[in-house]
Amino acid sequence: MKIGIIGAGNIGGNLTRRLTALGHDVSVANSRGPHTLTALGEETGATPVRVEDAARGAEVVVIAIPVKAVADLPSGLLDGAAEGVAVIDTGNYYPQRDGRIAGIEDEGLTESRWTERQIGHPVVKAFNGTYAQDILDGPRPAGAPDRMALPVAGDDETAKRRVRALIDELGFDTVDAGGIDDSWRQQPGTPVYGLRAGLDAVTKALAEASPERSADFRA
Ligand SMILES: NC(=O)c1ccc[n+]([C@@H]2O[C@H](COP(=O)([O-])OP(=O)(O)OC[C@H]3O[C@@H](n4cnc5c(N)ncnc54)[C@H](OP(=O)(O)O)[C@@H]3O)[C@@H](O)[C@H]2O)c1
Repeated sequence: MKIGIIGAGNIGGNLTRRLTALGHDVSVANSRGPHTLTALGEETGATPVRVEDAARGAEVVVIAIPVKAVADLPSGLLDGAAEGVAVIDTGNYYPQRDGRIAGIEDEGLTESRWTERQIGHPVVKAFNGTYAQDILDGPRPAGAPDRMALPVAGDDETAKRRVRALIDELGFDTVDAGGIDDSWRQQPGTPVYGLRAGLDAVTKALAEASPERSADFRA
């Protein structure tokens, strides 16, 4: 599958490593330009590109950058993507890092709804509570007793199915965490955030979440 990854740090870099190892055709971009991604390209076989070109022809696009940087992404980012592209949002709003985002703090938008509005396209929220190192070390075959489960939220059921299938291929189970209006259940400070556990425990943790933003994650 053709996959574009925007962000080549902890999360974007490790997704680049695993997705290329599975044989996907990966393009990867960061803020400084493709010339700074030569080593990652040589290591993985991914193609370093400019952000403007990252989504070209892609069936899946991953956004793995600090939330505050989402507002700086070029307009028309997804114009050249494949029809029905699934956009994965891995982001978490950390006011200490991202500054105060009024849409989240005052309007009460979920973090991913805010991101959708910036990029003008629906997203599927996934990997946001997954430690980057677990993307490399966590994969297990289907049915393994210690296989971790990741919550996945999104309004576009077709896109969500594609993302869940990709995560299964990466070596994790998934739990359908509802639509983007429900995705506060997996935001920072919730019981499922950073939880390394299987299907039952992840399902239970999602159910136990409170809609109140925890003080640590408010501006
Ligand atoms: N670290 C984790 O374990 C983890 C786990 C789950 C979710 N997350 C979330 O995932 C997101 C990324 O986290 P991370 O830890 O991977 O961050 P990171 O290591 O700091 O990497 C950020 C990446 O984003 C790129 N970037 C920044 N602004 C950009 C822009 N305007 N256009 C294109 N690329 C841009 C950076 O490129 P340059 O280096 O060229 O600036 C860098 O490659 C955050 O929202 C974080 O909360 C992180």
